[in-house]
Amino acid sequence: KKSIQDIDVHGKRLLIRVDYNVPLDSSGAISDDTRIRATLPTIRYLLERNARIILCSHLGRPGGKAVDSLRLAPVAERLSELLDKPVAALRDCVGPEVEAAVSGMRNGDVVLLENLRFHKGEKANDPGFARDLARLADVYVNDAFGVSHRVQASVVGVPNYLPAVAGLLLQRELDLFADLLEHPERPFAAVIGGAKVSDKLAVLENVITKVDLLIIGGGMASTFITSEGFRVGASRVEADQLDSVRQIEKKAESLPVTLLLPRDVVVADLLEAGAKTRTVPITAIPEGCRIADIGPETVHDFSEALSRCRTAIWNGPMGIFEIPEFATGTRQVAEAIASIRGTTAVGGGSTIEAVERFGFADRISHISTGGGAVLELLAGKPLPGVEALQDAMPELMEKRA
Ligand code: 3PG
Repeated sequence: KKSIQDIDVHGKRLLIRVDYNVPLDSSGAISDDTRIRATLPTIRYLLERNARIILCSHLGRPGGKAVDSLRLAPVAERLSELLDKPVAALRDCVGPEVEAAVSGMRNGDVVLLENLRFHKGEKANDPGFARDLARLADVYVNDAFGVSHRVQASVVGVPNYLPAVAGLLLQRELDLFADLLEHPERPFAAVIGGAKVSDKLAVLENVITKVDLLIIGGGMASTFITSEGFRVGASRVEADQLDSVRQIEKKAESLPVTLLLPRDVVVADLLEAGAKTRTVPITAIPEGCRIADIGPETVHDFSEALSRCRTAIWNGPMGIFEIPEFATGTRQVAEAIASIRGTTAVGGGSTIEAVERFGFADRISHISTGGGAVLELLAGKPLPGVEALQDAMPELMEKRA
């Protein structure tokens, strides 16, 4: 796909879709600005070339109406600090006032439009809304890897009306995952956890054909343990996924891949802080108890297998790590991944939170800005937002040597 590096941007108005869907704390302040920082290379590249930068994003799920707590003004403020230049936060993302503000922009100006999801047309991928956005600019840039799996107006609609290219962040994320999945240094491991098998089934089915080691933990392990013929107490089992889980286990047997499941688990009556915990083998999970983490023998198995790997990809925590009593498995697996001498990639909101909370972020080669988008890539599916970009540019846009 074409990128901003392939076009002449001098003096052009660029509508840049970014993913500023940042976490907010209870006072409404930004609690993690990683997604804002991740767009700086693209913005700086364009500023150096005197472009006019119109940023647009969603924040949360306001449901098609303006919600004050989901305005993007605090994001504009944070971006302005990071860039050390003014970033105007507009009060809307389409309409005559926005058009007037944008037509008054000079080279090197930066504005941030208001939350796209304040309009129903965004989520509905309404062509009229996409056209209204397209009217603001000469070129569309997708630098929002984290939303490129969504079929929404600002992701797939606007490219119908403007030349559409990739930004540097989108390009970097795509290159990295393509490289990992297609040319990994081996042994290559995937560590998949999280609450539900149904969320990760497509991922499991695809990665099992790519990796040498597939490790499964988290809530979804309960369904695997059940499929092995053991009782899981009061843990949630996705009965409708048992067939699929068996298929995956069968596939693992027919492929040169090692599938590792928990051998022991930490259980509790209540999944809350202060709960009384017990460590038990999966063959002896007590009635009424729920699995809350992987056990020490499992951590040992997983860590040892990971220590032999040269590449690892991780999505989904091993237990309810937000509660200290159930955090050990996730923390130790994070450490094992961080200790790999090779390429490591982590994706998904809660997995990244775990890596950061336990202090291993600096030792992971790639912390992705994507959640759902990473799952689509790991499932081997194309991202609609990327498909919508240009393979070739009209001659008048082409960068002159
Ligand atoms: C994310 O946080 O994964 C992206 O910003 C997409 O958000 P959404 O799941 O609300 O579409």
